[in-house]
Amino acid sequence: MLVAPRHFAIVPAAGIGARSGQNIPKQYVPLAGQPMLCHSLRSLAGAACIDLVVCVLTGGDPWPASPHAEALVREFGARLRFVDAGGPTRAASVTGGLASLGNEAGAEDWVLVHDAARPGLRSEDVVALVAALDEDPVGGILAVPVADTIKRADATGRIDATPSRDGLWLAQTPQMFRYGLLRQAYAKLPGATDEAAAVEALGFKPRLVLGRMENFKVTQSPDFALAETLLKARKLG
Ligand code: CTP
Ligand code: MG
Repeated sequence: MLVAPRHFAIVPAAGIGARSGQNIPKQYVPLAGQPMLCHSLRSLAGAACIDLVVCVLTGGDPWPASPHAEALVREFGARLRFVDAGGPTRAASVTGGLASLGNEAGAEDWVLVHDAARPGLRSEDVVALVAALDEDPVGGILAVPVADTIKRADATGRIDATPSRDGLWLAQTPQMFRYGLLRQAYAKLPGATDEAAAVEALGFKPRLVLGRMENFKVTQSPDFALAETLLKARKLG
């Protein structure tokens, strides 16, 4: 290839956080002095290998005019962009973000999709993911091997089975694939729950790259305190 591929990041942030028990969308809940979304965007924009971060919001979301968002734009300039391209599902929001890059991204450019709800991502792990996959024919994702014994519940909350955890990993984000492949994958499986599942539906086998538990997805009410503790400890460290 004559020109080195670029690295775009897409951050879907158009969810409502129905499971979070908060009275605002979870990506705006303050953690260690900043909305969760600021931490997630900074993890990506703070990695020098990322050329542009596209944050996908619900149409009409006024957040880009907030002081926190304006401070981020001052910090990262043209490397950070907000787009009104959110849809009813995560897949639809990611697809909206991909479409917004239609005039800029080439088929061979890389796209790293990262959940706004994972504020614990470290920039160094973004760099490590890019280094691990830059020559990969398919792409891949950050993930962690399952450490606990797995139980399957029955309808009454009792243990039905203890499946082997051999080979089981927890999928995280960023998930990194080439722009052309990702557009094709979502066209084939528009309801995919993550990018890897869409790419798998095309018959490819994405690579698993070892991440860290601290990049967990803030989902339920108690997760916020845990994320805040981790982020505060990092500030002190
Ligand atoms: N997301 C999105 N558009 C949607 C749904 C989700 O951009 N229609 C984003 C969320 O903002 C989040 C990421 O996808 O950053 C992962 O989704 P999830 O953790 O499920 O967030 P929510 O859908 O907001 O939460 P819940 O499922 O509890 O409603
Ligand atoms: Mg959801």
